[in-house]
Amino acid sequence: MQPVVLITGVLGGIGQAVCERFAASGWRVFGTDLDATGLAGLQAAGKVVGAHAADIRKPGACREVVAALLASTGRLDALVNCAGVWREGPVETFSEEDFDIVLDVNLKATFFMCSASIPALRESKGAIVNISSDAGRQGNRNAAAYCASKGAVTVMTKALALDLAPDGVRCNSVSPGDVETPMLKFQAERYGNGDMSAYYQELLAKYPQGEAARFIQPGEVADLVFFLCQSSTRSITGADLAIDCGVSAGN
Ligand SMILES: NC(=O)c1ccc[n+]([C@@H]2O[C@H](COP(=O)([O-])OP(=O)(O)OC[C@H]3O[C@@H](n4cnc5c(N)ncnc54)[C@H](O)[C@@H]3O)[C@@H](O)[C@H]2O)c1
Repeated sequence: MQPVVLITGVLGGIGQAVCERFAASGWRVFGTDLDATGLAGLQAAGKVVGAHAADIRKPGACREVVAALLASTGRLDALVNCAGVWREGPVETFSEEDFDIVLDVNLKATFFMCSASIPALRESKGAIVNISSDAGRQGNRNAAAYCASKGAVTVMTKALALDLAPDGVRCNSVSPGDVETPMLKFQAERYGNGDMSAYYQELLAKYPQGEAARFIQPGEVADLVFFLCQSSTRSITGADLAIDCGVSAGN
């Protein structure tokens, strides 16, 4: 029986790349995201064996996604939490609405997707990979709420790794730097003061590569996620692996 991976945010830049990486190695992919039409398109294209549209900010929705997956595939071998949102701005003017969406999608949904998946992962001795961020390893200016959400995901993942180790379930996070996805474009469009190129240049200026600095490609993140779900990495749990061109390595 081919293994099954559940991917949240499967219609996003990193989610789609993770979907393609697992499918290319014969895994059965079950996807979830907000847009039912987009998911139907993925299924019609044969990229996923099943999908369930949900706003996963509520624990009940997370449980529904896992129930739909088990009804469709009967097993779960890996959970990859890719759903996420970006909001930025000074703390003194940051709205409660923005704070809530960042914490609810990035942290709460990740927590409750893990929670809902644990019984099936225990049976398969499977793996969880949570997409965190370089912003979970160090502070990013103007992004306190996002940093709080990702720092929490990184440490939550370590705590869960300890809880699930006796059951043979591994739990790791992957922390990318700036990845060329719709999220990055959204950031530049919404927060770039009308100059997306200047926004991008400011991000790249943090990179130690100097003039050769470049954004990370979603496929690079997907390769690392896939690697962490292999039995050859059975000694890796509770880790946070940076894939950020050295941005979080120091100044
Ligand atoms: N792109 C980057 O530079 C970057 C860097 C570091 C970490 N990350 C993290 O990687 C993950 C994937 O980001 P991406 O760049 O692919 O972003 P993206 O915007 O391309 O995709 C995010 C996906 O999450 C889905 N989503 C958002 N809210 C949801 C909700 N309430 N319920 C269900 N689905 C929801 C969106 O519909 C979207 O398809 C996120 O957790 C993000 O924080 C991204």
